[in-house]
Amino acid sequence: MTVKLGILGCGSVLWGPYLSLLEPLIREGRVEICAAYDPIPAKAEAVNKRLGLTKRANSTEEVIDHKELNTVGIFTSMKAHASLTIAALEAGKHVLVEKPMATTLAEGQRVLEVARKAKGKLICAPHILLSPTYQAMYAHIKEKSIGEVLSARARYGWSGPWWGKWFYEPGGGSLFDLGIYNVTSLCGFMGSAKRVTAMAGVAIPEREVEGETITVNPDAEDNAHVLIDFGQNRFAVITTGFTMQKYRSPAIELYGSTGVLQMLGDDWAPEGYELWRNTKGTWEFFPDTEPGWPWTAGMTHLVRCIEEDAKPLIRPEHAYHALEIILAAKAAAKDGQARAISSQFPAPDYLSLASQDDAEKRKRRQHDPRSL
Ligand SMILES: NC(=O)c1ccc[n+]([C@@H]2O[C@H](COP(=O)([O-])OP(=O)(O)OC[C@H]3O[C@@H](n4cnc5c(N)ncnc54)[C@H](O)[C@@H]3O)[C@@H](O)[C@H]2O)c1
Repeated sequence: MTVKLGILGCGSVLWGPYLSLLEPLIREGRVEICAAYDPIPAKAEAVNKRLGLTKRANSTEEVIDHKELNTVGIFTSMKAHASLTIAALEAGKHVLVEKPMATTLAEGQRVLEVARKAKGKLICAPHILLSPTYQAMYAHIKEKSIGEVLSARARYGWSGPWWGKWFYEPGGGSLFDLGIYNVTSLCGFMGSAKRVTAMAGVAIPEREVEGETITVNPDAEDNAHVLIDFGQNRFAVITTGFTMQKYRSPAIELYGSTGVLQMLGDDWAPEGYELWRNTKGTWEFFPDTEPGWPWTAGMTHLVRCIEEDAKPLIRPEHAYHALEIILAAKAAAKDGQARAISSQFPAPDYLSLASQDDAEKRKRRQHDPRSL
């Protein structure tokens, strides 16, 4: 089945990362992009031109209700994600939505409810569980290569976006934009969180964005340290912000009862991992088996799941759990009170992904025998 995709939001993430992933799929005849909409006409026009679309979409409804479409990709600013996801699922479409799935808990709950009843599949970014490095580290944890994971640290940051004022308005901030990768990664490795507290705030109150000096809203923190309790006295800390110029530390550090696992690079762009096992008494380095793995890979995964009518590995419940943690961290940073976390999510089903990988390799071999 060809994936017939409609696009909402024609900004930076679509233009570079997603379109470069989609274009080979289009050439292979697996994806057809039928419509693209952005309220800024110049952005929509540029995408229409690049994709050779002659008919212009004039509203989000025109894309969501488009009869020929079976899938919608949502690449808008964050606050629009939940309502557009709900509308697209209710219209019977498959959906990929960039992170976060929602910016309030009520919206997130509604997305989950609608997704449970919908005939379409829902994939919520980030897609980091799909990276080969993440999968290899996950396998070590399941095999107890480092015993029980007792303590962990994760970090992701940079100096912050110079585009999109919405990053610095309510519903924006570094936790939704960056910390969400670390929250998703750590929960994937350690399971559902039980309790959260945090320090978070705006360290740089004025920023230059799109050539203007803007005042950052206090709700859009640019500096955050989040402490997560995973139960049984197992803790993790996340350091994130638009306050980090560079770093050379591991993205993720997992301290187990008999060893240590460290992801190098960033969790959205891993560069392999290091493993310490007390039994070996030395650090082992495992380079990334797929250098340049695209962090947009959730789109290829969705295409495959639609082609094979398979259940996506990335679960909306995991995205909702990350949302609950981030909102709890934001609230705890305001009043200093730790928050209990009530949601849970299922462990990723990597066995079904492995069979999909084999099918994908067969498909690629048919298309281009040199691709393996
Ligand atoms: N830029 C990146 O490198 C990057 C990386 C990973 C994830 N993301 C995520 O991608 C999303 C978009 O980020 P971006 O950097 O591309 O932002 P952007 O500001 O460049 O683009 C967002 C676009 O969405 C449009 N838009 C807003 N409301 C809309 C609506 N209702 N319907 C259709 N279009 C609408 C805006 O006009 C804008 O052009 C965010 O959720 C962000 O967290 C971005």
